[in-house]
Amino acid sequence: MSELQAKHLKDYQSPAFTISELDMLVDLYPSKTRVIARSQVIRCRDNEALLLDGEGLELKSVKVNNEAYPYQIVAGQLRLEGLPAHFALEIETEIDPVGNSSLEGLYMSDGAYCTQCEAEGFRRITYFPDRPDVLAKYRVRIEAPKTGFPYLLSNGNKVEAGALDDDRHYVVWEDPFPKPSYLFALVAGDFDLLQDSFVTQSGRHVALEVFVDKGNLHKAHHAMASLKKSMAWDESRFGLEYDLDIYMIVAVDFFNMGAMENKGLNIFNTKYVLADIESATDDDFHGIESVVGHEYFHNWTGNRVTCRDWFQLSLKEGLTVFRDQEFSSDVGSRAVNRIQAIKVIKNQQFAEDSGPMAHPIRPQSVIEMNNFYTVTVYNKGAEVIRMMHTLLGEAGFQAGMKLYFQRHDGQAVTCDDFVGAMEDASGVDLSQFRLWYNQAGTPTLKVSDSFDARSGEYRLVVLQQLPPQAGDDAKPMHIPFDLELIGDDGKSLLNKVLDVKEAHNEFVFEGLSTRPVPSLLQNFSAPVKLEYDFTTAQLISLMRNASSEVARWEASVSLISRAIWGNVNALVSGGDMALDTRVADAFRAVLLDEELDPQLAAEILNIPSINALIEQVDSVNFDALVSARAFVLEELSANLEDELLVRYRELYHIDSAPARALKNACLAMLARGGLCPEELVEKQFNESCNMTDSLAALGAAMAGELDCQDSLLERFEQRWVDTPLVMDKWFMLQASRQDDAVLGRIDALVSHKAFSLNNPNRVRSLIGCFAANNPVQFHREDGEGYRLLTRYLKQLNGVNPQVAARIITPLIQFGKFDEGRKQNMKACLEELIGMPELSRDLYEKVSRALSQ
Ligand code: TRP
Ligand code: ZN
Repeated sequence: MSELQAKHLKDYQSPAFTISELDMLVDLYPSKTRVIARSQVIRCRDNEALLLDGEGLELKSVKVNNEAYPYQIVAGQLRLEGLPAHFALEIETEIDPVGNSSLEGLYMSDGAYCTQCEAEGFRRITYFPDRPDVLAKYRVRIEAPKTGFPYLLSNGNKVEAGALDDDRHYVVWEDPFPKPSYLFALVAGDFDLLQDSFVTQSGRHVALEVFVDKGNLHKAHHAMASLKKSMAWDESRFGLEYDLDIYMIVAVDFFNMGAMENKGLNIFNTKYVLADIESATDDDFHGIESVVGHEYFHNWTGNRVTCRDWFQLSLKEGLTVFRDQEFSSDVGSRAVNRIQAIKVIKNQQFAEDSGPMAHPIRPQSVIEMNNFYTVTVYNKGAEVIRMMHTLLGEAGFQAGMKLYFQRHDGQAVTCDDFVGAMEDASGVDLSQFRLWYNQAGTPTLKVSDSFDARSGEYRLVVLQQLPPQAGDDAKPMHIPFDLELIGDDGKSLLNKVLDVKEAHNEFVFEGLSTRPVPSLLQNFSAPVKLEYDFTTAQLISLMRNASSEVARWEASVSLISRAIWGNVNALVSGGDMALDTRVADAFRAVLLDEELDPQLAAEILNIPSINALIEQVDSVNFDALVSARAFVLEELSANLEDELLVRYRELYHIDSAPARALKNACLAMLARGGLCPEELVEKQFNESCNMTDSLAALGAAMAGELDCQDSLLERFEQRWVDTPLVMDKWFMLQASRQDDAVLGRIDALVSHKAFSLNNPNRVRSLIGCFAANNPVQFHREDGEGYRLLTRYLKQLNGVNPQVAARIITPLIQFGKFDEGRKQNMKACLEELIGMPELSRDLYEKVSRALSQ
């Protein structure tokens, strides 16, 4: 059990030895790859042993200053004692890339060798101080057969290449920037190569290379364009320039996450590289642009300045997500990007923050680091950076960034160092604000107001309540509270960011002639829950008059959510369900508003999912919620049928992403109401030349349970069976079907020739999507949905524990459900915890869930 013990932030110690240079030979063979690592080691503290991390390695030899040296293996670590102040360490190990299904360390993806070292994968390549505060200069020599492996890549610059015996060849790479081991990368394989170049602000010529599987070159152009856009944007908005002569991106089909920012050699999930209009949706194109940007922006926020330890992960991830969100917002629609980011927080992060895995953006204790690449660290982390941006303003924030790089370039630092730079550069006191790094859970702001017509005084009372997850000694946080007051005539009276710092706060506004409508927490200025008793009339007014487009969307979500919860109550108390005509009229106005950005209109029409609605309450009557939501959708659809059809037809031939978004939102709403004519769907499916429209037609056929749904699914399958990324969409559609036969179909699809449990994209599309996006069948009362997930988790535990631990999420978030469902979920978790050889990844999540 020693392996399952948590590590604590408070126990951090700087390394006893550091490594200035690492010279590696990687001699590639499918199941016997030889690695010789020669390090220059420097002792930092006396009388301590050198401890090197290692996992799954076959150790061949250990030498110190060229002589064999005695060692011990203690708890998986290699231990050397009595070492001099400076020495050369040489370690030879053998590893098995073919047998590596965990996709950490060195593994094979479709015949190519590749690596994934973040967070702790380098220890699967050689014994090393595998921690981010050991920064070394790398020189890497790769040897492999010429046939099948013409490209041998690593970080930095190529300095040497040549032929060897037996059809083998070698390449040597040198990375001039000292880096932690998690940024090491190596790729060997045969690819199609898209080449381009970029000239930086200061005139540096950078070669840009995107490597994709053979036959996919035509799908690499959008990624390349996104890379150039990202490079230009980081120069113009942040003044940051690229620092090497080459930037490479390699796309691989087997990858645990989205992409990885290895210095000069990013490795990407194909999902975030490959796209053409026929096979990728508009959302896919947007996703590629934002992930390419994200990894590129890491070159400064993550690589040039890195993390001292993994508890500081949000230092690079929160900041880099903030940067990629700003990039998307500057080059696209700011409001729509903001809405999408808000949805991630409200629908996923709030759930994490109230569930068993709740942690602050800087966690205090961790069993398996891979479990902390979370929506809390990434997305709430980005919200925390965004709040600092709000408090400091763009100029103050940029001054802080500048000071941060001045102080810390080339270092491994902490979140406190970042906040310190922001504080010192701007003069804004962030001492209370720092609590955002310590306290888990979502604070609630309870807002009430009053208006005195005689004095013209409007008073706002804001109570800050901290959740139990924040801890027993939780203190009130510093919350920027963005407020607009809107007058009778719909005109803006005031726009201001208030500082909410206490448990009890009061704000008084004078000189008002009538009671204003408040637009509260505009732009979601803090990741908190808001409680205020809006009237229907107020929400309708906000939908129409708020100056912020995001606030208009927020009002629409509140309005429709209230309609749904009202019907849940009606069902529970035996009353009749109904929809207020004013609600339908408010949505009609959105459809008829020609001025409104169609993408924003689409966001408003896509009413909250079941999972999103569950996050609005503390406990849920699940069956009533499903019925009430379906009822409201049907009513809305029936009420708006004419307008939906008209808008759909108007937009039908317009070839732009925003137009498609609204057109397909109209189609989806008609389909959910059972009002979507079969001809319409088939026509769109047959005529569509782009994946967005094809998929939307298919989705509508399924939502409306049209007769054509099976034949369309089959045609789609036949056309795309050899295109894995498109088959993922097909698997997702299959996994989302709401009829009882879906469980049997999923079991059958696991044997489909396009499916493999070893490929994370496939697993996420079929099994992950079922658990996360098919609440109706996943939360079946008989528990069969939970048991299906559990069966596959047991298999994945051995194959790829990282992916298993990611898709388990809906099974551990049982807190809001009824006793029966809770018991069913817990029984599955008990079964998992009883497994022999349960991975650390699953152990951490399951044990936390069961001890709740
Ligand atoms: N650092 C990567 C990013 O944010 C995340 C990542 C990629 C990762 N692959 C991983 C994290 C594997 C853990 C394990 O873009
Ligand atoms: Zn990242």
